[in-house]
Amino acid sequence: MKEALIQAAIEAREKAYAPYSRYKVGAALLGKSGKIYTGCNVENASYGATICAERSACVKAVSEGETAFEMLAVAVGGDQPSSPCGICRQFLAEFGLDLQLILVNMDGKRIECRLRDYLPGAFTPDNLNEGRDSIGLSQT
Ligand code: THU
Repeated sequence: MKEALIQAAIEAREKAYAPYSRYKVGAALLGKSGKIYTGCNVENASYGATICAERSACVKAVSEGETAFEMLAVAVGGDQPSSPCGICRQFLAEFGLDLQLILVNMDGKRIECRLRDYLPGAFTPDNLNEGRDSIGLSQT
């Protein structure tokens, strides 16, 4: 499954809309259901309106009714794999800090870690009075 997820991220990267940065990113998010949701970065002439590949995959999944995830593969070009940006870390943390991350570049370099490694002291739904239960997310 890990290899299939990496392949899906590499293929999703081909769809990146990155005319400004030319930095293409692909993501593939594995739901607990076993379904894979892919995403790519989608840039905008108003640069700040850009959405990253990780969030694009996550929004796709949530909008299809899936909110529990096992693993996220992120594929980039360049010399080294790259980690999700701060906004994406926070966005993904909403759905659980145990998310396994597989970060790859096109040369086959690979970094494996967990989202919690990249977001110590995360602010999550548990910090709110409502907690995860009442918003329909499982505890992590
Ligand atoms: N980008 C992502 O898609 N994911 C990240 O985690 C980091 C940055 C995109 C946003 C923008 O389109 C390009 O990479 C350069 O920042």
